Amino acid sequence: MHTVRFNGKTPGTAECDRETALLAASAKAEVPLPHRCGGHARCGTCLVTVVEGGEHLSEKGAAESRVLLALKANSDQRLACQTWARGDVSVNY
Ligand code: FES
Repeated sequence: MHTVRFNGKTPGTAECDRETALLAASAKAEVPLPHRCGGHARCGTCLVTVVEGGEHLSEKGAAESRVLLALKANSDQRLACQTWARGDVSVNY
């Protein structure tokens, strides 16, 4: 069991018993994380900033890297729809 914590206007926490996409965890936590393209790595609206637990996240794939580059994102920012948590993680949105 691990915890994914979302810090933002509407904070929330999801308890996950398996590897879980951050976007799915946000839904579980009832956090209204934007996701305009429906999780297809096209819009960038699901951008989050990793505060803790970055070592528990999946590697960046090509699609995510392309969007992050277009957004000029910082190295601690990820797309929630393309990032999977395997351990305790805390993000700002
Ligand atoms: S929901 Fe569009 S990039 Fe993640």
